[in-house]
Amino acid sequence: MNDETSFSKETSIINEASMDTETSVEMEASSALQPDRVSEWAQLHAGIEACRACPLCQQIHHKVPGQGDPNAPLMIIGEGPGETEDLEGLAFVGEAGKLLTRMLDAIGMPRDRVYICNTVKCRPPRNRTPEASETQACFPFLERQIQLVRPKVLLLMGRPAAATILGETISITRTRGTWFERDGMYALVTYHPSALLRDPGNKRFAWQDLQSLRDRLMDLKLYPDLYGPYL
Ligand code: URA
Repeated sequence: MNDETSFSKETSIINEASMDTETSVEMEASSALQPDRVSEWAQLHAGIEACRACPLCQQIHHKVPGQGDPNAPLMIIGEGPGETEDLEGLAFVGEAGKLLTRMLDAIGMPRDRVYICNTVKCRPPRNRTPEASETQACFPFLERQIQLVRPKVLLLMGRPAAATILGETISITRTRGTWFERDGMYALVTYHPSALLRDPGNKRFAWQDLQSLRDRLMDLKLYPDLYGPYL
């Protein structure tokens, strides 16, 4: 395999600044959801907005519930909002988010075909790792998101997301690239894009993980319009 990951190539860069994410989220919600689902999502978002269960909400600009296709077969879970996400109220729209968009692009997956969220919905101060108690306080929201989206595959980016879903403390170096089964879903652990920005040497491992993700989505025939026709 070529060491050069395709998502680091200039040609795959998507100009996310030109993407009107808020509009597309609203359109997805109104066009793709049954009426009962609209109210369930509205309730969830209202619950997140009103939540004061941990101290993280005291220093934020916006809650960041998550966004994307509410019926997506693939759900991507990160750690917690960063500065740009806190300012915009949207998950993965800063530098790490731009890298995530390029990573998805590298496997032919448009970003608006997945649902993206974090383990905590409020930005931890100075982007520190969320405390276990904060992750625990926010877990019912993540659990509800999984119930509503009903994804078949989870991509767990970074240790906090992996630990939250798999229920165990893991080493990313040892666990990345490994598939787990949880509650009828397949879950793949990989590096967090922020970690890849800090240490680009790991991009080649992340590229292996992405190819494994694409193969699994193909095997499960989850995105026939992207990966079919299947023989
Ligand atoms: N890092 C995350 O884990 N989530 C975001 O939304 C942005 C950066």
